[in-house]
Formats: sequence, structure tokens, C-alpha cells
Amino acid sequence: MNICVVGSGYVGLVSGACFAHLGNRVICVDNDESKIKTLKKGAIPIYEPGLAELVKRNYKELRLSFTSNLKQAVKSSEVIFICVGTPPRDNGEADLSFIEHVARDIALYMPSYRLIIEKSTVPVNTGEWIEHTVKLFNKRNIKFDVASNPEFLREGSAIEDFMHPDRVVIGVKSKKASDILTELYKPLDAPIVITDIKSAELIKHASNSFLATKISFINSIANICDKVGADISEVAKGMGLDKRIGEKFLNAGIGFGGFCFPKDLAAFVMISEKVGYNFGILKEVQKVNDGQRTVLVKKIEGLLWNLPKKTIGILGLSFKPDTDDIRYAPALDIISELLKEGVNIKAYDPQGMPKVKRVLKNEIKFCKDAYSVAEKSDCLVIVTEWNEFKELDFKKIKKLMHQPVIVDGRNIYDPAEMKRLGFRYVGIGRR
Ligand code: UDX
Repeated sequence: MNICVVGSGYVGLVSGACFAHLGNRVICVDNDESKIKTLKKGAIPIYEPGLAELVKRNYKELRLSFTSNLKQAVKSSEVIFICVGTPPRDNGEADLSFIEHVARDIALYMPSYRLIIEKSTVPVNTGEWIEHTVKLFNKRNIKFDVASNPEFLREGSAIEDFMHPDRVVIGVKSKKASDILTELYKPLDAPIVITDIKSAELIKHASNSFLATKISFINSIANICDKVGADISEVAKGMGLDKRIGEKFLNAGIGFGGFCFPKDLAAFVMISEKVGYNFGILKEVQKVNDGQRTVLVKKIEGLLWNLPKKTIGILGLSFKPDTDDIRYAPALDIISELLKEGVNIKAYDPQGMPKVKRVLKNEIKFCKDAYSVAEKSDCLVIVTEWNEFKELDFKKIKKLMHQPVIVDGRNIYDPAEMKRLGFRYVGIGRR
């Protein structure tokens, strides 16, 4: 198929490259000319394992191209995915003006039938607004369909998630739209849920909110474990083996971050309020999540007594491993709370440092690896569970540190082993 993907951000670029890899001819569009220039040179503006190779190969084999000319792309593609940003406004609501502009432009440029698919995470009813907007500007009365096809990919495993999804969700109004999308996703051999547009839109927000709820729930149980001397990893294991609960997303820690969960949760709370429902559970999920950052800082304080002038080493800055994304990263909140306490901070992250440097400049010291962070530190804090932190030489770390103290915000080490090695070690809800 000839596909146009509008918006070359995370979702757009991954989807475009994967659709091309499946044998379609894909044009990725972005109004940021410098981004398009970069992509044409074969450079990828984000860090995502495997993406650079996939983009390069499909670009070279002419299945994937890049342009800032939306008109040209709409003319040559029957299927158009809208993957532009829906950033949060101050009140948490999603800003849909980019979607509106693109819908209007598609209406102005489409020469014949077009299937317009919203892939960005959007509030329920956005499909209706897109349809309304396209109708308004579609002066020549050209036939079109609107569909919703939410994307569930996770950063760090985006290509794998796209190619092997648990399910593909398709919200449509017409058989033609349903047939085109079913055909497009056929090579993935995944279960396809075909439904109406509003239900498809809700599936996305409901799924992300449910996952976020699972994390805040397990973090609350971890906080109780801390108070009564139980172990969250045992509790989570015992819960997770119940198939109705499931073992995934039961890792307690410093709470979720990233651009999706916090933003989607805030948007969903707003949407619910707008339609007259007070989604109290989700508000509590947000509150518990914010509180986890403080839980960690309190643990550091509990071990170091006075914080001013102490040196704290932070391992991990990105909101999760295998990404350089620092948007809503717990590390930023934790660093800011610690700086207020007057500590010196040293930090290292395998991918996230350039982006953090732009935000924090010289407020903290950036190090070349975990060992230089440990050097003369009073406490080492695990903020992101990168694999390389799981294989550190702790005998060496202990010698380098000023005091052998570790606060593990991701529960990646065995408390008994750490104690045996001579560390004062605390995790989140560990015994
Ligand atoms: C999420 C959704 O999983 C994905 O379907 C959606 O399309 C986008 O949002 P992503 O934000 O990339 O993906 O990461 P994910 O792996 O889901 O983790 C989100 C956050 O939850 C991270 O900060 C992670 O550290 C945290 N998390 C996850 C936990 O704290 N505990 C867990 O058990 C799982």
C-alpha cells in the first residue's frame, strides 16, 4: 500500500519504518525541515534499539522516504496515519491543534478517496472531530473514511512491540476502512479487535490508565511492606502467579515516568471530568506516583542522617532503560528534591546524559561511568535499571565510595547479597 505517516516523532517514525519493512511504500512527513534533513542523511533523532538500521535499510531500498511536503505525500498515498503530537496543556488536557491542522490540510489536498487514521493518543470523540473538520474543508465532496488505530508500543522495545503486538485495535465506521486496515496488519498475524471509533479511542486511555494503576497499587503495597517488614518481591510473585492478576507491571519502585503514562492519565482524568465523571481512582494513582519520589529521598535521608554537603551518586537518568527519553523521568524530580537539600550530585546514564545536560547544565556533575559516580560518594542511588548496573563490581564500588550506602529505587539487587558485601542497602519494600 501507499502510506503517508504525518508526524515523524516516536510513534510516526517507528510505525513508518515498520510498515515499510512489511513491504509498503511509506512517506514520513514532518513540518520540521531540519528533522527531515537529518532523517534523509540516515541519522535518527531519537535513541531506539534497532530503529536506525530499520530506517536506513528501508530508505535505501526505496520503501521509505521523508518529506516536509504534506500536499505531495497526501496526493500519492491512499492511507494516511496521523501521528502528530498531542502535548499536555497546563490543565492536563491534550492539545489537539496539530491534529486539527493536519485534518484540514488533508481535506484540502486529497485528490480522491483517503482513509485517515488517528494513531496519536487522543481523547474519545477526536475521530468525530477529525471527520467534522475534513467534511468542512472537503469542498469537492471527495469520499473518505476516518479510523482509529491506537499504538501500544513501548520505548526501548518499540519495534518488537510493533511487529509482535498482543493485539491490533481498529476503530472504524465502514467496511472499506476495516478491510484496508485488516489487510495492512495481516502480515503481523496478531489478534485484531475491530470496533467503533469511540471504543477504540477509549481502549488506549483505559489500557494505559490500568497499567499505571497496577504500578501505583504495587508501590502502595511496597510502602506497607516497608512498614511491617515484608518483602514486595515475594508479595508480587505470590500475586502475579494468579492468572487473573498476571506477573507483569508489578515491579515496585520510584513510580512511572515517560511521556505516555503521566500525560495520558492527566488527559483521561480531564476527559472524564468533561463528560461528568469524577475518575477518583486515577487521581489517587497520580498521587501515589508523585509520592514515590519522596519515599526514595526519605530513604536516603534515613541512611545519611544530615544531607547538606553530602555527595549522592545517581545511576540512571532516563525514565526507563534502553531509551534516552527523560520526559517526566523520576530522576529529574529526585535530583531537584535532593538539590533543595543542599547535596552535591554526581550522575551517569548510558544514553540520557546529553538531554539532562541541556536541562541541568552544571547543577550536577556528569560522570563517564558508574565507577566514577561511586568515587567519594556517600550514597549510590539506583534510579533506572539499565542492564549494565546489574553487573557492577561491588567490591570495587565499595572501595571507591566514601560510605558504602546504596538506595535501590528499582529493586535490582539482592538485599542479602548486598549486606554480605558490606553495604548498608535499602530497596523499595524489600526485607
Ligand atoms: C507505555 C505503555 O506501556 C505503551 O503501551 C504505550 O504505548 C506508551 O506508554 P512506555 O512509557 O514506553 O510505554 O514504557 P513502559 O515500559 O510501559 O513503562 C512506563 C513506566 O512505568 C516506566 O517509568 C517504568 O519504569 C514504569 N514501570 C513499569 C514500573 O515502575 N513498574 C513496572 O512494573 C512497569
